[in-house]
Amino acid sequence: MRIKIVAGNWKMNKTFQDAEELLNEIAEGIQDIELHNTEVVVCPPSPYLELANDFADENHFFVAAQNISDKDSGAYTGEISAMMLNSMGINLTLIGHSERRKYFSESDEFLKNKVDAALRNDVVPIFCCGEVLSEREAGHHFDVVRKQLDETIFLLPSEAFATVIVAYEPVWAIGTGVNATPQQAQEMHSAIRSWIGEKYGPAIAADTKILYGGSCNAKNAAELFSQPDVDGGLIGGASLNSAEFLEIIRIAAGQ
Ligand code: PGA
Repeated sequence: MRIKIVAGNWKMNKTFQDAEELLNEIAEGIQDIELHNTEVVVCPPSPYLELANDFADENHFFVAAQNISDKDSGAYTGEISAMMLNSMGINLTLIGHSERRKYFSESDEFLKNKVDAALRNDVVPIFCCGEVLSEREAGHHFDVVRKQLDETIFLLPSEAFATVIVAYEPVWAIGTGVNATPQQAQEMHSAIRSWIGEKYGPAIAADTKILYGGSCNAKNAAELFSQPDVDGGLIGGASLNSAEFLEIIRIAAGQ
């Protein structure tokens, strides 16, 4: 059985003091939850990765970066690399979030290089994909997501692909308060899983974790997470409040 993952993407939010407070509250709250087959991930802004990792070690959650460079080291001012993350004991990173694609013009080709950078440093990519509203309205959402995967993680050999986590995040649902319906999420997750099956075989397809992201919160998480191919969520806004984030974790853990 696949585990569930609840990952909180803080984006560019929180002062250092606020981050410390939120981490404290998550660390304390998590003690009262039987996590069973659920893993919790926190993706703080990069200046707080080390702080988050200090909390994570003792408190049963994992830390992920929100983004990495496609390079390991060198004269790339302002960048952080998977090699650095690995040296800090951080083994997860988001790659290809729609905000990176939109505001920083990250192409699929570039994202594939980031995926390679992560994997060669033993950092697991949580690879984000998803269509914009006009693409869904035109009925192209399956083609768009398929292409995003074909040009990135579907180029990986089986062994490497098997480590990747996928996050389906319809762009029209991110930060809008309009989540995909559980049926819309399930339909896309099931398509993604069947493409994985065609490329990598049924065992890898059955094991790959596919998270849903886009206005997922404590009110809609139960219905979304109960879909057979939805293995948890990538939570933005609702992860900035400890009570709500903890409630979503509880839902994923079945409590
Ligand atoms: P949201 O963001 O939950 O605020 O919609 C999700 C994400 O961008 O990962």
